[in-house]
Amino acid sequence: MCGIVGYTGKQEAAPIMLEGLKRLEYRGYDSAGIVINRDGELSLCKAKGYVDALSEKIGGGSLMKGHTGVGHTRWATHGKPSDENAHPHVSSTGKIALVHNGIIENYQKLREMLIAKGFDFKSETDTEVAVNLIQFYYKGDILKAVSEAARRMEGSYALGIVCEDYPDLLLATRKESPLILGIGKDGNFLASDVAAILTHTRDVCYLADDEIAMITPTDIKIFNCELDEIIREPARIDWDISAAEKGGYEHFMFKEIMEQPEAVRKTLSPRLQNGRVVLDDIILEPDYVNSLKKIYIIGCGSAYHVGIVAKYNIEKLARIPVEAVLASEFRYSSPLADKNTLVICISQSGTTADTIAAMREAKRLGARVLSIVNVVGSVIAAESDDVLYTWAGPEIAVATTKAYSTQLAVTYLIALFLADLRGTITCEDYTAIVGGLSALPAKLEEILQNKENVQYLASIFFNKDNIFFIGRNIDYALTLEASLKLKEISYIHSDAYAAGELKHGTISLIEEGTLVIAMASYFRLIDKTVSNIVEVKSRGAEILTLTTVSGKAHVAHASDEIVLIPDIHEILLPSLAVVPMQLFAYYVALARGCSIDKPRNLAKSVTVE
Ligand code: AGP
Ligand code: GLU
Repeated sequence: MCGIVGYTGKQEAAPIMLEGLKRLEYRGYDSAGIVINRDGELSLCKAKGYVDALSEKIGGGSLMKGHTGVGHTRWATHGKPSDENAHPHVSSTGKIALVHNGIIENYQKLREMLIAKGFDFKSETDTEVAVNLIQFYYKGDILKAVSEAARRMEGSYALGIVCEDYPDLLLATRKESPLILGIGKDGNFLASDVAAILTHTRDVCYLADDEIAMITPTDIKIFNCELDEIIREPARIDWDISAAEKGGYEHFMFKEIMEQPEAVRKTLSPRLQNGRVVLDDIILEPDYVNSLKKIYIIGCGSAYHVGIVAKYNIEKLARIPVEAVLASEFRYSSPLADKNTLVICISQSGTTADTIAAMREAKRLGARVLSIVNVVGSVIAAESDDVLYTWAGPEIAVATTKAYSTQLAVTYLIALFLADLRGTITCEDYTAIVGGLSALPAKLEEILQNKENVQYLASIFFNKDNIFFIGRNIDYALTLEASLKLKEISYIHSDAYAAGELKHGTISLIEEGTLVIAMASYFRLIDKTVSNIVEVKSRGAEILTLTTVSGKAHVAHASDEIVLIPDIHEILLPSLAVVPMQLFAYYVALARGCSIDKPRNLAKSVTVE
């Protein structure tokens, strides 16, 4: 999230930045802006909406003269998409301006400290804290000020900075959000993504975490956090521009699958503090939580599937009855919702018509609505009583991957939060789950490193016509998502069944060579699931089993192929198990030559009932 492009050199900066921002549009964004430093005077232009709207305001760049500047496409996390919240942000004194990708997790504390020191804030963003913090430390040496501010900021950031006192200087620093420095012929560049500058230069240096770069028209200097200079050899980019626009990946879906460890980390880490779940962004009073009689979880498609996993987990930990309901069914089903009901609405886009209608019905009935949404300021976010944003960054592929994973991550936080307030969880369990959550991003990475194994399995099974997914409990919830993913992008017919249910009818469809994908990660029920695997195997099915490292010995005798995921606390298993299933759907669709990012008949956001 999202786009930065900066330039300092002999040419006019504004047209270069507009062109760069256009090339970053593929990442998705909601507003754009640029700042130019013209001989020590900062001028700014920002616009909600597309880069074209920004470009129009400044005559394609011709109305903003100057040779040094930085531009941004924002994908809102803190504060709705608007002109005020768009970047660049300027310090209280007007001396320093910057753009920011990422989330400053301790922004609230820093903001309070700065307000107490007399700084004033014009936007709702976490970003404005960064620029004022640099201003706070600025005593004439901008490098020192950036370094001191960076030490105080927690979270993730890539910053592009200009300062009135340094007319041809761009500064950059980063932590857990990418930034590259481009070496041009008559000027130098800064970008969050190589696509933004590839038409100008292929010679780049990668900035590492906590490093600061000082970029002038003729020179680039990199410093570590002790402000010692670092010598970095440039690298040569040999990709073409079309590959760079998808970050080097062939499809957005694959890119988004690969982004999951980072996306989940961004969702979780600001909300895990000193071993506790901290949900500062919502107001659920203990008395209200203890008065709850029921929770409904509402969503469509994959969002609904997240709700089914959450039902198992919230009921288990917080001991409240939970019903996951399809949004399109909810409002026509005479729901039993009132003031003692919490309705959790899950939606990536925040604009799904059925979910909006269900949310409004829930509110009409007097229920409190807590939404889990990715797009900041969307209808569902705006109309809910409480919102927990997933901060997954823009999701472009129609088939959701990182939104599903981050929604799931939020539901664990809710389960822990409710269980803690209701006193239904032991200290040991709470600590074990929080520990598991902290380990989740690294375990997701481990799975993604072994993706070739799933690719191989897809190459064996891609020409099946019918596939059945089976599982029990949270594994069953996961089969629904695994099956939907496969259907959406590979067009293979598949069905998801609770493993114990198959013999009540559907087993009649199993014949020689039918592929059954068994999800057997939930250790408590693994032997029961194995019995169901044996039932279908003895009727000729081929078996692909997904299980944990500890589960392997239990399933090996009954499986033809096995996909392994690392062990983790049992309630978190779906977060790991879904990834090989996303990859399987992806590789199968690839092998079948399907249109992966835009499957037939589907839209990313379904705004009709
Ligand atoms: C999943 O891959 C989908 N394309 C679809 O099921 C989606 O999850 C559903 O339409 C809900 O969308 P939302 O999260 O934006 O509300
Ligand atoms: N957190 C910042 C904001 O909401 C930056 C978002 C981004 O990465 O675009 O403005």
